[in-house]
Amino acid sequence: ETLLWKKVNDPAEIDGSIKEAAALLQEKQVVAFPTETVYGLGADATEEEAVQRIFEAKGRPSDNPLIVHVADRRQVEELVSEIPPMARQLMDQFWPGPLTLVLNSNGTAAENVTAGLSTIGVRMPDHPLALTLLRVAGKPLAAPSANRSGRPSPTTADHVYQDLDGRIAGILDGGPTGVGLESTVIDCTTEVPIILRPGGITKEDLEEVLPQVMIDPALANEKEKPKSPGMKYTHYAPESPLWLIDGKDEFFMRQLDQLKVDGKRVGVIASDELADQMDHQPLIRCGSRTQLRQVAERLYGALREFKKSDVDVILCESFPEKGVGAAIMNRLNKAAVKKIQTC
Ligand code: TXA
Ligand code: MG
Repeated sequence: ETLLWKKVNDPAEIDGSIKEAAALLQEKQVVAFPTETVYGLGADATEEEAVQRIFEAKGRPSDNPLIVHVADRRQVEELVSEIPPMARQLMDQFWPGPLTLVLNSNGTAAENVTAGLSTIGVRMPDHPLALTLLRVAGKPLAAPSANRSGRPSPTTADHVYQDLDGRIAGILDGGPTGVGLESTVIDCTTEVPIILRPGGITKEDLEEVLPQVMIDPALANEKEKPKSPGMKYTHYAPESPLWLIDGKDEFFMRQLDQLKVDGKRVGVIASDELADQMDHQPLIRCGSRTQLRQVAERLYGALREFKKSDVDVILCESFPEKGVGAAIMNRLNKAAVKKIQTC
C-alpha cells in the first residue's frame, strides 16, 4: 500500500510524481524522499498530526527532535526567532548542503517537531528532487532519516522500502544518495557554535568560515572510552553484531582467523587496502582508506548487506578520524556492540 514512484528520467514524469507526493503531504501523510545525504521521511512541519505519523512509522522515541527541511531562507525566517550573523555565514557557504543549523525556534513549527525544545534544527538539502518537492508542497518538511529507528539510515529507495513498506504513504526514488551519511548538526545558539553531530560538512570545512568551533564533549567522550561493556547500542545497527577492529591490518587478520577457528560465520567490511590482503567471503569493500568520501557513501549499504541468517559476526575496520572520517567513526562506534583494540 506504500506508493513507490520509480526513478524516472523523463522530467514530465518526475513532475507528476512530485505533485502526487506533495498532495499526500498536504493531506498530512508522510512521504520518503531522497536528499544528498540519506533518504528522509517527510511530513508538514507545521502540522502536529502529520509529524506524529513520522514518529509512529519509524518507531522513534518522541523526545528526539526532527530536522526541518526548507527550500529557501524565507522558510527559515518563518520558523526561527532570529538568524545570528554566523548562521547566515554558514548558510551562505554551505547551503544547500549537508549542514543542519540549530537556531532558536519562534514556535511556528509543530511542538512535536522540536520534542518540546526551544530550539529547532533546519537545513536546505542539496538535491533537486527534495528541493522541488519542498517548493511544490509549499511547506517546510520535518524529515528524519527514513529508516526504522535503530537501523542504518537508507541510502537507496529500496532500503526505505525494506524498512517502511506499508507504514508510509509513498517513496520518491531518486537513485542512491551521494554523501551517504547524515548532515552535520551545529548548534548556533551559543556564542561559539558547537558540533552536535559530525557529518558531511567536516570540522575542517567549518573552521574555514568560523573563527572558532567546538565539539560537543559527549562526542569526544565516546571516542575516548571505546569499551563500554554490556552497553547496547541501538543506532545504525546491522542485523548481525558488528565488531569494530582498531589496529594494524595484521591485527584484523588475526581476529578474523580466530573467529573462523571458533567456527563463526564472519562477514567483513573493509577498505580496498585491507581487502586486497585477504581471501575471505563474504566481504564488502567500501573503497580506499585515502578516499573517505567513498567509504561514507558506501557504509550504510554495507551495514545492511549482511543478513542475520548468513553471518554470526560482522568485522569492520576502523578509519582515520580526519575530515569525513570523524562522521564515519561516530556512526561505526554507535553501530558496534564490541570494539577491539590493539593494546
Ligand atoms: O542528513 C540528514 O540530516 C538527514 C536527512 C534526511 O536530511 N536527516 C536526519 O535526521 O539525519 P534524523 O532525525 O535522523 O537526525 C536528526 C538529528 C538528531 O540527532 C537530533 O537529535 C538532532 O538532529 N536535532 C534535531 N533538532 C535538534 C535540536 N533542536 N537541538 C539539538 N539537536 C537536534
Ligand atoms: Mg536518523
